[in-house]
Amino acid sequence: MAMDSFSASLMKDKREIIIAPTIYKFANFGEFAQEFALGERDVVLTNEFIYKPFMEQFNLPCSYVFQEKFGVGEPSEAMIETMYEQIPYETYDRVIAIGGGAIMDLCKLLGCKRPSSVHELYFKREPVVHEKEVIAIPTTCGTGSEVTNISVAIVKDEKNGVLTGGETKLGLVSDDIIPNKVCLIPDLLKTLPMKPFAASAIDALIHATESYLSPSRKTMTSEMYSVKAMELILEGFRRIGENGADARLDYLEEFVTASLYAGIAFLKAGCATVHGMSFPLGGTYHVPHGESNYALFGKILEIYDEIKPDGELAKFKALVGRILGCDASEALKKLAELEEKILPLKPLREYGFKESDIVDFRYRLWRTSSA
Ligand SMILES: NC(=O)c1ccc[n+]([C@@H]2O[C@H](COP(=O)([O-])OP(=O)(O)OC[C@H]3O[C@@H](n4cnc5c(N)ncnc54)[C@H](O)[C@@H]3O)[C@@H](O)[C@H]2O)c1
Ligand SMILES: [Fe+2]
Repeated sequence: MAMDSFSASLMKDKREIIIAPTIYKFANFGEFAQEFALGERDVVLTNEFIYKPFMEQFNLPCSYVFQEKFGVGEPSEAMIETMYEQIPYETYDRVIAIGGGAIMDLCKLLGCKRPSSVHELYFKREPVVHEKEVIAIPTTCGTGSEVTNISVAIVKDEKNGVLTGGETKLGLVSDDIIPNKVCLIPDLLKTLPMKPFAASAIDALIHATESYLSPSRKTMTSEMYSVKAMELILEGFRRIGENGADARLDYLEEFVTASLYAGIAFLKAGCATVHGMSFPLGGTYHVPHGESNYALFGKILEIYDEIKPDGELAKFKALVGRILGCDASEALKKLAELEEKILPLKPLREYGFKESDIVDFRYRLWRTSSA
């Protein structure tokens, strides 16, 4: 099959690594607010349950907007349109995203010139024009969205320019939406409950894995970030497996740093089948992003192992074996056992997945990658 123009443009990209934002670390929100002198022309998009314990006490003059005002869950066309209405473009100069991947993806859009409609923007019929400074502060440890050039939303689906009546999940991709600054504040992850923590950490592990396995787009530098992310995440999982869920609390800096590293790796090397197939799964059955990837991850690695056990996968198994202290031949099994201790795996049918989706999602996987 001929390569589509989007994939061809990625293959032509000769950059060894892309780390566009300046990266900071702070012990807590107060230190960040002081360094950046938050003022009246700053808008902070967050959740009320993150604002209350970490930000309310400082009585800062910036405006706080809570994502839940527009709707819950992953960004959708309707949610973004409501956000545009609630935060008029002329009321702010800087955008500060403090939240999970969903909030960071929304803030990337707040940093850009308003399109005539969100739909036109996501279907690439209007350009992305970055105009305002965006500061991204992740409070989960998964998406790496703070460093990536993607903003993901569930949008009305189209076929040949006509609305199908259904929905699909699309990534708006442009280097112009990479945040200008990233601040890592591990303290903010203390309130993240175990389940979203686990789903996001597994998402980061999958970013690191898929970029590590990318035979043609990875570079020596992206591989270094993938390996370091895997080492940090698997060590954290080992601690949780041995000592229980609270063991994550002494290791939050490592988790949030690993997810940044995995984001740097996949921005260059890309993600692959797991993410491609999880997009229709998440879009159709509203399965949270990390969980939908996890539902497919182990099986896809097994299939890779059946089809081509040598090459990059052999290196991956040796690497995981080294980190987990087992033989490479046992690595995929041990990895699945360790993940099971972090987040029990549910069969796809429990999310509503049907046998016919196998063919339908394959079509949509092709559409997503070539859109
Ligand atoms: N742009 C990218 O590069 C990229 C990559 C992967 C995923 N994504 C997108 O990111 C989203 C998934 O991100 P996510 O896994 O971070 O999930 P999320 O943003 O939906 O957050 C998960 C849940 O945890 C809550 N939460 C977050 N931080 C918290 C905290 N500190 N304390 C208490 N609760 C907290 C959120 O409110 C939410 O209910 C999806 O919309 C996905 O499509 C984007
Ligand atoms: Fe992901």
